[in-house]
Amino acid sequence: MTRLLFTVNPGLEDISAEEIRAEVPEIRLVEERAPHGRVVVETALPVGRRLWEAIERLRSVHRVSILLASGRVCGKPECLEAVGKAVELSGVDAYITPFTSFAVRAYRHGSHEYTSMDVARVAGEAVIKAVTRKWGRRPEVSLDHPSVIVGVHVIGDEFHVAVELSGDISGHRRGYRIYDHPAALKPTIAYAMLVLGGARDGEVILDPMCGGGTIAIEAGMLFEDAEIICMDKNPRHIRGAKLNAAAARLDTRIRFLVGDARRLEEYVSHVDRVVSNPPYGIRMGDPRSVRRLYSDFLESLSRILSPGGTATLITTEHRYVSRRAAEAGLSPVEERTVAHGDLWVKILVLRRET
Ligand SMILES: C[S@@+](CC[C@H](N)C(=O)[O-])C[C@H]1O[C@@H](n2cnc3c(N)ncnc32)[C@H](O)[C@@H]1O
Repeated sequence: MTRLLFTVNPGLEDISAEEIRAEVPEIRLVEERAPHGRVVVETALPVGRRLWEAIERLRSVHRVSILLASGRVCGKPECLEAVGKAVELSGVDAYITPFTSFAVRAYRHGSHEYTSMDVARVAGEAVIKAVTRKWGRRPEVSLDHPSVIVGVHVIGDEFHVAVELSGDISGHRRGYRIYDHPAALKPTIAYAMLVLGGARDGEVILDPMCGGGTIAIEAGMLFEDAEIICMDKNPRHIRGAKLNAAAARLDTRIRFLVGDARRLEEYVSHVDRVVSNPPYGIRMGDPRSVRRLYSDFLESLSRILSPGGTATLITTEHRYVSRRAAEAGLSPVEERTVAHGDLWVKILVLRRET
């Protein structure tokens, strides 16, 4: 049995677990670790082409590793010795030889009297000890261009030791990002929002504040027959979104509009799903201006959203949005907290009653 550790967006572990279960054959879920963005699975498949092809299809995963060892650790510096011992005995020397450069990447969540650099140092020394014992020579450490990355995840009182399969590039860095919107959404979150909102093929899906087009492009990758509309008031962002969509080979499948989300009915007659990442207002200065935008947008949205249709929004203004949505005849279906960069924000799913 191979154990795999997936690093995913914190707050969306269940969505990733579901996607992994659907895409990766012969798999058993061992645990989802919310809200720390970890999903552990077990599979009878060897790490080979079939497994790798399935992993490459995943849209919600940041990294994937082979899990070598797990255990418990306390928050005191002397407890790191147990992590070092586990790394040394984990079988990591099957992946690293004196001719393989390596680096340890340490991830730490929770309250501990040591830093992630302390974890990386102890684990690095343990790797060197294990490899030297087996091969008679030390391996080379290369922090910038390692051949093998050993991930050590300390989460509360648990730790995991893993060999990373996806290198240093996280799965949320999609190749289509030619135009980098200054407030771009992680594509893995965009995927999860489409799933949470219940979007389906054949529907009309609108992102009325689409910036560089992340949500529309992810929708285009999921659905072949949906009518996808990407709208923004700023023509520069729409030009960028078109570039990104062309890089994803989806530019002919998405309709691009320069328009105002406060007057949706002027551009679109009806939509089934609205999925959007409106401005958080952090750069807008006055919080009243972002609230005015949300309020006018929700009122306009209620005029074009099909009965039973949903609006899925990621926002820091969830209380205000929920209140105004209720006034506009939209009922809450789901509210969850997710990490978006350094911020903890809410994803809200609202439904227009039939
Ligand atoms: C947070 S960004 C969206 C980023 C996008 N999700 C991405 O990944 O690139 C919010 C966008 O809302 C747009 N916007 C703000 N007010 C708007 C309005 N009244 N109508 C349409 N778009 C608006 C901004 O131009 C900005 O591009």
